[in-house]
Amino acid sequence: MAKIMIINGSPRAPKSNSKRYAELFAKACPAETEYFAVRKTNHLALCCAMQEVSDVLLVFPLYADGIPVTLMRFLDTLAQNTPQHPVRISVMINCGFLEPEQNDIAVKMLRLYCRQNGFASGSVLQIGSGEAILSTPFRILVRAKIKRLAAAMLAGQERTWKVTMPLSKGLFLKASTRYWVSYGKRNGVTKEQMATMQIEG
Ligand SMILES: Cc1cc2nc3c(=O)[nH]c(=O)nc-3n(C[C@H](O)[C@H](O)[C@H](O)COP(=O)(O)O)c2cc1C
Repeated sequence: MAKIMIINGSPRAPKSNSKRYAELFAKACPAETEYFAVRKTNHLALCCAMQEVSDVLLVFPLYADGIPVTLMRFLDTLAQNTPQHPVRISVMINCGFLEPEQNDIAVKMLRLYCRQNGFASGSVLQIGSGEAILSTPFRILVRAKIKRLAAAMLAGQERTWKVTMPLSKGLFLKASTRYWVSYGKRNGVTKEQMATMQIEG
């Protein structure tokens, strides 16, 4: 059975939700997997490791409706150092908002990248409420989809799934606002401060 290379493209890889999703994938996947996180200094090492596999799973968050810069920069290097043999790229993307469709554009960007650089497009799992869902009983829904993603990858299929918390937008907004306000409070930041640009300072 082929080995799958898992690449975490989150800018906060060691503490990321993407890492948790990658771990769930590794558990659910009957084939051997190897996990890597993108860092500024390991782009060429990742390209080298890709010479040994036929399947890659990119796990990353949605940032500003697109691909985080950490991953973009790696993809630039990869385009200059493509593997010598066919490689299929699958995607597991998670976003903070409830709707998994928020990830559609980023997935299209990846598909275009694959076409332009000679990679085959594999399967895709788009996760909405990605910051929250693993801490709720709805994590079972994610686990089920991750299992299907692993099976589709091993079968060489190009399939797409979406998963999110089965809540109304109003309820999700209320719950997430409560969560972030209390998170801010624990860190000495008010709701009003969070609503300003100075929060980045
Ligand atoms: C700078 C930044 C931009 C983000 N942009 C979006 C966005 O456009 N849409 C969205 O639904 N979530 C957005 N999010 C939320 C992340 O996608 C979400 O928190 C995700 O779980 C982070 O995954 P990670 O821990 O693997 O990095 C953004 C988060 C950050 C920090």
